[in-house]
Amino acid sequence: MSVLQEICPNVRNMKNLEGAILARQACQIKEELRQGVRKPYREVIDVSFSDPHRTGVKPLTFVRQVLAACIYPQLMNSNKLPVDVRQRAQRLLRACYGGSIGSYSEAAGIPDIIHRISGFITKRDGGLPSYPENIHTTAGSQWSLMNVLKVLVNSRASPRTAVLTPGPCYSTAILSFMSVGAVVVPYYLSEKQGWKLQIEELHRALDSTKGVYNPVALYIINPGNPAGLVQSRKSIEDVIKFVSEKRLFLLADEVYQDYVYGGNKEFVSYKRVLAEMGPPLSDTVELASFHSASKGFLGECGLRAGYVELVNLDRAVMKHTNTLILKQACAPVLGQIALDLMMNPPQPGDPSYPLYSMETQYMQTTLAHNVKKALLVINSLPGFCCQPVEGGQFLFPRLFLPHKAVQKAKEAGIQPDTFYCIRLLEEAGVLASPGCEYNQKEGTHHIRFCIMTHMDIMEELLKRLTTFHTQFMQDFS
Ligand SMILES: Cc1ncc(COP(=O)(O)O)c(C=O)c1O
Repeated sequence: MSVLQEICPNVRNMKNLEGAILARQACQIKEELRQGVRKPYREVIDVSFSDPHRTGVKPLTFVRQVLAACIYPQLMNSNKLPVDVRQRAQRLLRACYGGSIGSYSEAAGIPDIIHRISGFITKRDGGLPSYPENIHTTAGSQWSLMNVLKVLVNSRASPRTAVLTPGPCYSTAILSFMSVGAVVVPYYLSEKQGWKLQIEELHRALDSTKGVYNPVALYIINPGNPAGLVQSRKSIEDVIKFVSEKRLFLLADEVYQDYVYGGNKEFVSYKRVLAEMGPPLSDTVELASFHSASKGFLGECGLRAGYVELVNLDRAVMKHTNTLILKQACAPVLGQIALDLMMNPPQPGDPSYPLYSMETQYMQTTLAHNVKKALLVINSLPGFCCQPVEGGQFLFPRLFLPHKAVQKAKEAGIQPDTFYCIRLLEEAGVLASPGCEYNQKEGTHHIRFCIMTHMDIMEELLKRLTTFHTQFMQDFS
């Protein structure tokens, strides 16, 4: 046993992500292409992350202008930047210690920015109050989740602490639960019903922990990743009643709240629904809601900034959470600024508004087009079936793989959908992720790919996928 494994059993228990095999392979293929090795494609299309800039989406001009002016304030003397950009940068720099983004901020975040985040939440939730002291910014929402988990999960407890998580579920969250020593107990979303969350399934998952684990929390992603469901108000109410009855902490990952495009669907926050359900639920259910500058139209994943809003936390727990957060280094200040810009975009009448509006509308149109086109193509291919997508940034079609392909994967010691993804990468230059990374239901296979990319890249991707898939099914049938 290595020293690391002896020291850290939680790390030892973490599963090896098969996506890592693919990422390594993608690096190698990219290098070969750079060196002029001939392949049936000139570049790899990497849609394995929800990282829009990686897939060629351009940053929002307003955001980058303000960030540039904050990094290099001399730019503020140039009239090349719109006046509202300069004013915004000045205001933000005034809120930084020493007027520089190079200084640390308060651990929870720059107070001005926290106030504006709380203003955004209040407006989003139809005037429901949000209190700045309950909001903490971190280096990405995943970090915020880890902070809450550190308070909730006792890694040395017996029985072990369990967290109910959706199946399928965002893989980094699964790793976060495991890294703090929690047991991941999946509740499966119903694929046949468009990935609907069924309350009976929550009961089944919880019952499975009886006498074995100590379940403390329920994690939910709405809108979903990788399944593109958007929960209805009724479904959210049911979940809230369930966690209240079972005394579970509610972890609501709401980072895709700006991405809802399913006909008559709309995003409603857990916090809002909880408040509108009234007492006693509204005063008792403990909730953490997460959001991120990596998502929305910003897509500034590399700047690393997210926040958590805590609702109804027990005072003692809140005290520990605050201590934990206040002992940490602050989130990157540039990331905090990105969050501020996300929460407060240019408004009609501002000089930057027309361009901002054009850029975000273009993204909306692109996303709607990509979803429609991808669903059409994928559902026309034998061996593929994709549920309608209502929100989020992914397609997660089910793959019905021929027996021979499953057998071949077994021989290679990898999961069947990883086998498919490796071939897709090698033969078609498309990097997608295998469903086995997302706690999919045993015996099912899927692939996940990000749909937030340029229309022409999506067209090329679908072309390559169609050719590859047809050949693959023929080869293994
Ligand atoms: C559901 C979900 N939550 C959180 C994150 C990570 O956000 P951040 O970059 O803020 O850590 C992602 C990223 O893909 C995600 O899909």
